[in-house]
Amino acid sequence: MKKVEAILRPEDFEKVKNALKQMGFVALTAYPVKGRGVQGGVPSYDMLSKMKLEIVVKDEDLEKVVEIIIRNARKGVPGDGKIFIIPVNDAIRVRTGERGNDALY
Ligand SMILES: Nc1ncnc2c1ncn2[C@@H]1O[C@H](COP(=O)(O)OP(=O)(O)OP(=O)(O)O)[C@@H](O)[C@H]1O
Ligand SMILES: [Mg+2]
Repeated sequence: MKKVEAILRPEDFEKVKNALKQMGFVALTAYPVKGRGVQGGVPSYDMLSKMKLEIVVKDEDLEKVVEIIIRNARKGVPGDGKIFIIPVNDAIRVRTGERGNDALY
């Protein structure tokens, strides 16, 4: 399993979220964050408002999910966002006790 952490423009998040759902990736976590990329924000706002999306996926779905995020967030300009991929040891669905891939979706 992998955790995909995507830091996106708030205004792009809705489109990404809807596209993920349409492709069968319903479960996710998202929250507002502040951040800066290599440009260091803009002079009067060092830290820009972003949305952070976290979605834990099966290894076999990783590239598909990354592609959905990129396709829906890329404008080809600075600030399009950043994606980090992190290995996940295990997942547990509290209701059933299912573990690993079975607990994801
Ligand atoms: N190395 C990093 N570590 C942690 N967070 C990062 C890192 N790089 C970017 N971020 C986060 O991602 C957000 C979006 O980054 P951004 O899209 O501006 O990336 P970038 O590397 O500056 O690329 P670009 O040149 O396309 O703007 C930042 O506001 C910050 O929250
Ligand atoms: Mg940037």
